[in-house]
Amino acid sequence: MDYALLKSVHITCAVLSGAGFLARAAVALRHPLLLRRWRAARVLPHAIDTLLLVTAVSMVFQWSGGFAEAGWLHAKIALLLLYIGLGTQALSPRRSPQARAIALLLACACFALIVASALTKAPFGLPG
Ligand code: HEM
Repeated sequence: MDYALLKSVHITCAVLSGAGFLARAAVALRHPLLLRRWRAARVLPHAIDTLLLVTAVSMVFQWSGGFAEAGWLHAKIALLLLYIGLGTQALSPRRSPQARAIALLLACACFALIVASALTKAPFGLPG
């Protein structure tokens, strides 16, 4: 598939994924069990995140800079794993409201660092 098209779909999914997570986390802060009742809140994030990752992997295969040398891509993968872990805690009914709020803040910081790494092509957005 055309690289420019993959990148557009990837960015669109990144925006939808981030906005969707923020909306679900905002609901989960007060009513974490409510999310389980909404089918869209259970199904849509998986569809968007799968497309986000499929486009990411497809672009990595075409990336001319070489995956081994691309520190910003390694940083993105590490941050993504952290973001998924923190995001799960931010939505979990088993955590206290305070713990969910802290996990939400840290997940937002991870998301911001992922975007900074993507835009600057430097790990965590910090030029080396
Ligand atoms: C929450 C997860 C992610 C977010 C929010 C995100 C965000 C972004 C954004 C905003 C861009 C556009 C950068 C620009 O305009 O120059 C981008 C590009 C890109 N991302 Fe992601 N991304 C995520 C996950 C990943 C993962 C896991 C990988 C693969 C390891 C990846 C690989 C790439 C690649 C190869 C590009 C294209 C770089 C270019 O050609 O300029 N992304 N990403």
